[in-house]
Amino acid sequence: MPVINLGHLSLDSVTRSRVVNDIAKACRDLGYFQVINHGISQSVMDCAVKSASDFFELPSETKEEYDTSSKDSINMSQAFLKHYAHPLSDWIQYWPQQSPIYRKYMGKYAAEVRREGSQLLSVNCYPKASQGATTIGLAPHSDYGFLTILLTSCPGLEVVDRSSNIWKTVQKLPHALHVHIGDHMEVLSNGRMKTVVHRALLKPEEARISIPSIHGFALHEKVTCAKELVDEENPPKYKESSFSDFLEHLTANMDNKHKNFLESLRMYGLQSIIRV
Ligand code: OGA
Ligand code: NI
Repeated sequence: MPVINLGHLSLDSVTRSRVVNDIAKACRDLGYFQVINHGISQSVMDCAVKSASDFFELPSETKEEYDTSSKDSINMSQAFLKHYAHPLSDWIQYWPQQSPIYRKYMGKYAAEVRREGSQLLSVNCYPKASQGATTIGLAPHSDYGFLTILLTSCPGLEVVDRSSNIWKTVQKLPHALHVHIGDHMEVLSNGRMKTVVHRALLKPEEARISIPSIHGFALHEKVTCAKELVDEENPPKYKESSFSDFLEHLTANMDNKHKNFLESLRMYGLQSIIRV
């Protein structure tokens, strides 16, 4: 697992370009990496996890007000909460207020982990694995945005290793955040970088909190293959799309769990030649 020391970005230009190259290489070869020295303090991370546990301990009636609770093909057994997080001042009013610390601590983490564009914060709570039951907490899928930055309370995430096509456990380094590539990065890079298929397992030892922060462009802004990467030999491989197109795709394919968003964007043969 590549570990990128983001602190090195502020050193001399040679070191900086080495870090940038390391990130590009990890994105191309694997699609994921961990970041350390990312500038978010351990206490902000701990408080985010704590405020999530605090929320999930509330009585069910309270949680139902917020739970999207659409048990779809991917969500197997975890309780979850999804809310927009940027711009924070527009959205925080819709966040849970029954937990006295949730808005304060999750708001702080959301602001620190954000760059620009849209940000969707999912907050998942997986139960302990019970004996004999399935141990899959979240079925295999890829994330729609450019990048997902994932904070978890304990291990449980698995990614498909591209070269061997087998599931690989993501180890949890102290203070590290896991980063992986989403569908829109595959589109932007015209297929040079590939979205990462991943899943979450339930653990027999403990319940697990995970907080993926999914980063993309603004709601209606279209993502296309970067024009620098498109020429006669490399026609665009994907149609343009926005986050709102993704949401429409989800609604339109509620019952068809196998119809994948990225697949719906793929252009084949003639279609892509005509575009050029
Ligand atoms: C997700 C996700 C991983 C995890 O919510 O999209 O992939 O470890 N979560 O819970
Ligand atoms: Ni995911």
